[in-house]
Amino acid sequence: MEYATAERKIKKALLARPKSTALEKVVDILYEGFEKYSWVGIYLLKKENLILGPWRGKQATEHTTIPLGMGVCGAAAKTGKTELVNDVSQDMRYLSCFLSTRSEIVVPIKKKEVVVGEIDIDSDTPAAFDANDATFLEKVADMLGQHI
Ligand code: SME
Repeated sequence: MEYATAERKIKKALLARPKSTALEKVVDILYEGFEKYSWVGIYLLKKENLILGPWRGKQATEHTTIPLGMGVCGAAAKTGKTELVNDVSQDMRYLSCFLSTRSEIVVPIKKKEVVVGEIDIDSDTPAAFDANDATFLEKVADMLGQHI
């Protein structure tokens, strides 16, 4: 799917109510729209922990609660900056969820500059994510930030 098409679909999906349904739809669009997105999840920050919300993928992750600062997810939430990992086996912070994962991108979701959650995407393809994915997912995160 084109990034612009996905953006339009996501904008529309965010109008769905209840709000929790809207987040599920966004995860669906990302998972179904991009083959290289092997696992897609949204974590929400509650106090000092990231709590897994809606997700799509072949397998469930055991990391449903991640303390702030732990793993690639915790790093992105702590700094508020997108983390793009081309080779998860070379990143000491990486918390393994699936044996098949080769690369990962984590994009913080902010509300008024404050991190409230993040989009986490794993890929079974090495170096699957580039600056276009980061730009696109940062736009999605902006939309989510206004919604949450
Ligand atoms: N790999 C992440 C943990 C979440 S799973 O990918 C779903 C990390 O290093 O924080």
